[in-house]
Amino acid sequence: MSETTDHMDRFAGRIAIVTGGALGIGGGTARKLAAQGASVLVADVNDEAAAANVAGITERGGTAKAIHTDVGSHDAIKEMIDTAVSEWGRLDILVQNAYDGGRRSNGSAVEVAEEDWDHSMALLTKALFLGAKYAVPEMQKNGGGSIVNLASVHGILMAPRKLVYEAGKAAVIGMTKQMAIDFGPIGIRVNCILPGHIVTESSQAATWDETPGGLEFFDQQYPVRRTGVPEDIANAISFLCSEDASFITGHPLAVDGGLTIQLQEDLGVALGKYARENEFQMPY
Ligand SMILES: NC(=O)c1ccc[n+]([C@@H]2O[C@H](COP(=O)([O-])OP(=O)(O)OC[C@H]3O[C@@H](n4cnc5c(N)ncnc54)[C@H](O)[C@@H]3O)[C@@H](O)[C@H]2O)c1
Repeated sequence: MSETTDHMDRFAGRIAIVTGGALGIGGGTARKLAAQGASVLVADVNDEAAAANVAGITERGGTAKAIHTDVGSHDAIKEMIDTAVSEWGRLDILVQNAYDGGRRSNGSAVEVAEEDWDHSMALLTKALFLGAKYAVPEMQKNGGGSIVNLASVHGILMAPRKLVYEAGKAAVIGMTKQMAIDFGPIGIRVNCILPGHIVTESSQAATWDETPGGLEFFDQQYPVRRTGVPEDIANAISFLCSEDASFITGHPLAVDGGLTIQLQEDLGVALGKYARENEFQMPY
């Protein structure tokens, strides 16, 4: 799917921050918001990829800057907000997207180590609280703004041995609604997106390149018969940040090709049939 080129002036004069804006969903979102006129601060721990994304945006005539930001650090989050304001004079949009993939968070309550719970919860939840703490006063100075938090379909449907991720993403949905209530009166809308499976640079390399037929099997789980790409989520984030969504706040928007509206037992039967007919077995 190509990045759409409409709404070129949708965010003219607007200032946006995208955490985890170097790669994956955040990378696509930074490109989308910049293509639609926003100046975008790409806040990421991966300096090389952030610089590459910024260079691509700049080459296409957009405005962006990279900042090294670990959203696990209180000081780094404050510096990120301060930098957007000192660079461009205001803040209108905050997309809270960064996460390190959850390699340390797999397991049940019996298996997860306390320090891994603390590490992952800091990225999944505390970072979003701190981002809002410093972004909201800046947005209020301009009469409002928009925050979009990245939740997941894992925030409403639980998978085995994913205690930390599922709890964190469920919390993101609750935090989003709470922030929408608290900041609606000062003109700040807060929504979250629940992506289905989105193929990114890292998931392509770490999973799908190693699993022939695996992505096609995953596609079968989606009523639209495909998994997502970062632009699918970027398009939804752009909409939620725009005036077209001015009456939408506190909303957990599933952007999942219909994954979460299906009756599970029928889906299970259909997948079993697909696997038999295609002699396919997931390696886990
Ligand atoms: N890809 C999916 O299928 C999917 C599905 C549902 C929800 N999500 C959520 O969307 C968000 C983005 O996921 P993705 O798949 O694009 O991830 P990704 O791994 O492709 O990209 C994550 C980006 O965040 C950066 N990052 C990692 N740790 C960071 C930190 N501590 N501080 C700042 N930046 C950091 C990485 O360098 C990278 O640029 C996450 O919140 C994830 O939970 C993803």
